[in-house]
Amino acid sequence: MTGWSQALGSHAEPDAPIEPTFTGNRGLQLEEKLIFEQDSLGHCGVDLPEPPAHRSRLGGLERQAPIGLPGLSEPQIVRHFTRLSQKNYAIDSGLYPLGSCTMKHNPRLNEKLARLAGFADLHPLQPAATTQGALELIDTLAHWLRTLTGMPAVALSPAAGAHGELCGMMTIRAALTARGDARQRILVPESAHGTNPATAAICGYAIDNIAANARGRVDLAALKAKLGGDVAALMLTNPNTCGLFEDEILEIAAAVHAAGAFFYCDGANFNAIVGRVRPSDLGIDALHLNLHKTFSTPHGGGGPGSGPVALAAALAPHAPLPWIVHGENGRELIEHAKGPAAQSIGRLKGFHGQMGMFVRALSYMMSHGADGLKQVAEDAVLNANYLRVRLAGALSQSFPGICMHEVLFDDGFLKDTGVSTLDFAKALIDEGFHPMTMYFPLVVHGALLIEPTETESKASLDQFADTVIALAARAQAGEAASFHAAPRLTPRRRLDETSAARKPLLRWRPEPARQQAAE
Ligand SMILES: Cc1ncc(COP(=O)(O)O)c(C=O)c1O
Repeated sequence: MTGWSQALGSHAEPDAPIEPTFTGNRGLQLEEKLIFEQDSLGHCGVDLPEPPAHRSRLGGLERQAPIGLPGLSEPQIVRHFTRLSQKNYAIDSGLYPLGSCTMKHNPRLNEKLARLAGFADLHPLQPAATTQGALELIDTLAHWLRTLTGMPAVALSPAAGAHGELCGMMTIRAALTARGDARQRILVPESAHGTNPATAAICGYAIDNIAANARGRVDLAALKAKLGGDVAALMLTNPNTCGLFEDEILEIAAAVHAAGAFFYCDGANFNAIVGRVRPSDLGIDALHLNLHKTFSTPHGGGGPGSGPVALAAALAPHAPLPWIVHGENGRELIEHAKGPAAQSIGRLKGFHGQMGMFVRALSYMMSHGADGLKQVAEDAVLNANYLRVRLAGALSQSFPGICMHEVLFDDGFLKDTGVSTLDFAKALIDEGFHPMTMYFPLVVHGALLIEPTETESKASLDQFADTVIALAARAQAGEAASFHAAPRLTPRRRLDETSAARKPLLRWRPEPARQQAAE
């Protein structure tokens, strides 16, 4: 047993009550009111002179009452937001093994380059003659993505993976419409990411599920049985959300094409295969990549991500605008769906998409080089398999054999312990670890999906593995009560999930209105 797991083992009295403090604060974690509830009347963070008298030109539409913003002084506001940020957990704080999310380190070099004034201060409406450097960067990024995917066209504007899916499905629909083929069905394997069926439905298609086989992959016979003249496309995630490579992908592609359908691939997990496999060689017609996963740009809550889409020749004419072309005056833009872009699906996003993400992604690619990117994939897979082997005796692996960048376990190891996947995850938080992804994918019961990423050291993986093994032993030793009480050491204890889902308080209101809303 390592020192780390001994320390875990001596976790003396898990249910001992925690003494209240006079202030409600704990250590240096402060309890405070919401910013709107702080008594701050008359305070202001800035000291501006009264504006000179002026005649309004708003035609009586001026605001009649104060806007109701809290008036805090600068030190108060700085402390408030600093304290909030310290309650947050981030990849910069520690291991973040959230499967399917690829929470890997964002190199600081990328940040430095994205802040260069020549990129950061550009205005999107500047004439192309003054933005040649930025256009070259976008074009170079597209070149790298074309090379890595082997696909002839890349659309950079989609703002996230799901937006990339929308882009891909719209190009497929446009290609089918252009050939007068109104197909209605999209096949989606059980192990697909949830955004896949959602995207297909938004595009107006009927969704048809394909079962997974006993090895956690697409059941080829079930797929073939569902293929027909009304199938527009298959949406396959590869590597899939069980962390497995679809090893019959060539047969899948051949069957899809033989039925006259397109093969869409969710390439969000490209970080497991980048530099090793070109999606074009797998028969894929359209594939989105999550720059914020494979190429280490930051994740944002709903943005600013970036989900470029690589397209095969049959779909390239339908790529969204704008297109960058090489003209007499350097790089020029095609911005309207006419002439050479007459078949484009049009714009999906303002301007070119997330420029800051493009700078970061290209910085990541160029600093790693082609061989470095290949090693990223190899190390991501190595780390996941290291955890797979270390945890094999303690947890229940859902599908046997080697995994890709993430490893899937189910709640089999918790059978008859009275401890659920959720309890287990909460107990991990008390031990200082962000939990893995829970209850996803739905292919198995009580899923625990672990994606360590390539940027974790062996020491950090070992600490995590020791903790998970010790907790599994505690669950199996009949200590369910300590799991039900977790987390005990966080600023907030476990939420009542039912009330949180059924009676959510999503908007702050003054106290009386809040009480009314809750009743
Ligand atoms: C396999 C897969 N597909 C699609 C998505 C959706 O990407 P985004 O969150 O950028 O919309 C994700 C997100 O993590 C994913 O893991």
